[in-house]
Amino acid sequence: MGWIWTAVLLVSLVAAPAAVGGSDTTASTAVTGVSLPPDYRTWTAVAPSLRTDKGHIRMMLANPVMVEAYRSGTLPFPDGSKIVKLVYRAAASPEWAEATVPGEPVSIEIMEKDSKRFADTGGWGFARFRPDGTPVNDMKLYVTCFPCHQSNVQDHDFVFTRWAP
Ligand code: HEC
Repeated sequence: MGWIWTAVLLVSLVAAPAAVGGSDTTASTAVTGVSLPPDYRTWTAVAPSLRTDKGHIRMMLANPVMVEAYRSGTLPFPDGSKIVKLVYRAAASPEWAEATVPGEPVSIEIMEKDSKRFADTGGWGFARFRPDGTPVNDMKLYVTCFPCHQSNVQDHDFVFTRWAP
């Protein structure tokens, strides 16, 4: 092999990871080992929620594995299930004041089911991200996640959100 071909080969080897890259490689992972998958915004809407005490609008989206379980009434949710909660400040629509709409984004939270990795917390891994996708890495925060879900929705595999018809 002449040096030109060697050079072409080397260049393509070096270039390869960048070509595969795209948004997949930018997925960020929290200290809990849970990532925010880059395609979460394409998941299916499960239900919205209005937190009157916090003045938040939330939107819950689930991945295909979890949507399938919701639709077939399968509990517990299978491994591979993921659900995100997009949190926004509730705001009056600028065009129609009586309509309350998502305002400034507050956070993105995710729960991911892996019954082996997260055996200590009902099989669910928890993580919170800032609106720009960077993880909030605060273990003091994460020790609060499961206990609240556990004490309130143990009978629904620790998931609050029900499928909105
Ligand atoms: C004091 C109680 C409480 C704590 C602590 C808590 N949650 Fe929740 N979580 C809720 C409630 C209530 C809902 C459903 C309604 C809503 O959020 O508007 C919910 C919903 C969720 C959902 C959507 C799936 C579901 O169960 O409905 C995710 C994802 C989530 N929480 C992640 C987290 C993460 C990550 C933490 C820790 C950083 C956390 N939660 C801590 C009460 C809690």
